[in-house]
Formats: sequence, structure tokens, C-alpha cells
Amino acid sequence: MNESIFNEAMKIIQSRRFKAISEQEARSMEIDKKIPEFATINQQLAQTSLKILSAIQSGGNVQEKLETLKQNNLTAQEFSKSLLVENGYPADYLDTHYQCDMCSDTGYYDGHYCDCLRSAIAFVGVARMQRDTQLKLCSFEQFSLKYYEGKTVIDSNGMERDCYKVMKSTLSKCIEYASHFGNTSESMLFVGKAGLGKTHLSLSIAKAVLETGHEVIYDSVINLLAKIEKEHFAKVESDIDTLSLLLNVDLLILDDLGTEFDTPFNVSTVYNIINTRLNHNKPTIISTNLTFPEVKSRYAERITSRLFASYTAVPFYGSDIRLMKKKESI
Ligand SMILES: Nc1ncnc2c1ncn2[C@@H]1O[C@H](COP(=O)(O)OP(=O)(O)O)[C@@H](O)[C@H]1O
Ligand SMILES: [Mg+2]
Ligand SMILES: [Zn+2]
Repeated sequence: MNESIFNEAMKIIQSRRFKAISEQEARSMEIDKKIPEFATINQQLAQTSLKILSAIQSGGNVQEKLETLKQNNLTAQEFSKSLLVENGYPADYLDTHYQCDMCSDTGYYDGHYCDCLRSAIAFVGVARMQRDTQLKLCSFEQFSLKYYEGKTVIDSNGMERDCYKVMKSTLSKCIEYASHFGNTSESMLFVGKAGLGKTHLSLSIAKAVLETGHEVIYDSVINLLAKIEKEHFAKVESDIDTLSLLLNVDLLILDDLGTEFDTPFNVSTVYNIINTRLNHNKPTIISTNLTFPEVKSRYAERITSRLFASYTAVPFYGSDIRLMKKKESI
């Protein structure tokens, strides 16, 4: 478990709770000033707990006394609500508005991590991803089509393809995808040789989709599998469950499929991720330097059939831009 990711996530949840409570206090002070009758009601409500205590201590028909107190209390609450409404405030103006109704922004629900804490953990992970990768350097604006100009390649069907045309359409597809991203978005398979911009466009999508408020996880297949494997075989159960984050995040971007070792653990984990996300209609973007025949020969039928049938193939054609940029800079 990455201690600092958990702590950072917990801080987010605690600051939500703190904010909810201090906003409630501010509203309460405002109302005390504007509606003087509230002072009386508040006193009454504050005394309730004292009265309950003395009712229990004094004996007699405790049940009946408690019931009367409860009724008084409810009446006071009703009265305060109607006072609020009369004065033009919403009836729940004095409630504490937690962001998470399940756990009241404590992060724990029913003795377990609440969903809000889990997504905060995922979110912090994503923020790390932003910091740790070249995310800042990659955007659609920095993606130039000039590198594909005047080039043609023969595709796997023996057809001559104009790289510029293909990449122009690939770029607009990615921009369109990011700007309309939602839970009905498709999954995509970026296919093409090294240095053609697959990672660049993946990160540009990640950045744009993050900006629309969705959670995105981007990393190379190798890194993610290593994390999952480490957690899987750890002696103590870890608090971060990378696999479940990958299965649940709004958009998962797996870079460089085919560079991982084909151990049984890796193969079954890759299958699990692809399959589970498809079954739950969660969009995934996978990029690979492998050609279609290479993908086919490397992965079992159960993986390739899902990839080819359910992912939209997005082609990358051209020649290594890393090399072209190097030449430019000399
Ligand atoms: N169309 C482009 N315009 C500008 N820079 C590009 C473009 N495509 C790729 N690059 C740059 O070239 C390098 C290699 O691209 P990358 O996206 O890593 O390729 P791939 O993931 O397909 O191997 C990176 O530094 C990237 O930012
Ligand atoms: Mg790449
Ligand atoms: Zn919660």
C-alpha cells in the first residue's frame, strides 16, 4: 500500500467534512442574527439531551417522559423548518450538507472504506500520474500533422495509404472522443509502429478527459501489471487495490500492450481487465506497437476476439517522429 496516496486521499475526505461542518456553523450564525426566534428554539433543542438524562435518572415512567421529549423536540425541529421557509430559506438550510450521504464524509461506511474514499484514492493516483509522466508536455495542440505529410505506407491489406490523411482523421477522432467522453464512449485500440504518436495522443486524451471532471488512469501495461502483481502476492493485504481501480475508473488507458512478459499471471490479468471493463461498458484505450497478426499470435483467442470485436481500431501510420525530431534539432 502506498501510504502517502492513502493519507492524501483521507485528507481530501476530511477537508470535505470540515468544510461541510464549518459551512453549517456559518449558516447557523447567520440565521441566529436574522431570525431572533431561533435563539429560543436552539436553547430548547440544546436542553433536550440534558432533559433526557434527568428523565432517566428521576425514574418513574421513563418511556413516557422520553416520548414527550422526543415529540417536543420534533415539534421544535418542525417549527424551525417552517420559520426558515417563512423567511425565504430552504427547509434544510441548517442541516449539515455532507458531500457523501453514505459516510458523512468520514471515509468509512459500515466498517469499510466508503466508495468516496476509494474514488479519492483513485483520484490521488491519477494526480500522481499527471505529475509523474510527460502529461504536461502532451496536448492536441502540440500534435502536428506535418510529420505525416508526403508519406505513404502499404497497409496489412496491401493497400497504399496516405499517412497524412489517416493521421488527420485519427487526430480528429481523438479530439472528438475526448470532448464527448462519457460512459457510452467506445473502447479504442491504437495500432502502429513505435514513434508515431500513440502515447502522445493517449496522454492528450487523458488530459482533456480529466479536465471534464472524469477520472482517468494512464500508465504502461508493464507498470500496471507490476503493481497488481506486487499487491497480489504481498503478505499483508494492501489498502490500495490497483486492479479494482483499473476495473472501475471512468477511462483506463493502457499503453504499450505487448511489451509485458507473457506469464500466466499477466495474461489472465490483461484478460480480466479487458473483459470486465467491456462487460460493465467502461471505455478503455489500449495502444500497441504490435501489428494485428502479431497481436493474434501473441494473445489467446479469448483476448483477441474481444479486442477485435469490441474495440475500434485506430491506425497510426508514418515514420518514427522521435527520429525526425532528433534530426530537426541538430
Ligand atoms: N504528431 C506529432 N507532433 C508532435 N510531436 C509528436 C507527434 N507524434 C509524436 N510526437 C512526439 O514524438 C515522440 C514519440 O511519440 P510517441 O507518442 O511516444 O510515439 P508512440 O507511443 O507511438 O511510440 C514523443 O516525444 C511525442 O511527443
Ligand atoms: Mg508509446
Ligand atoms: Zn463516503
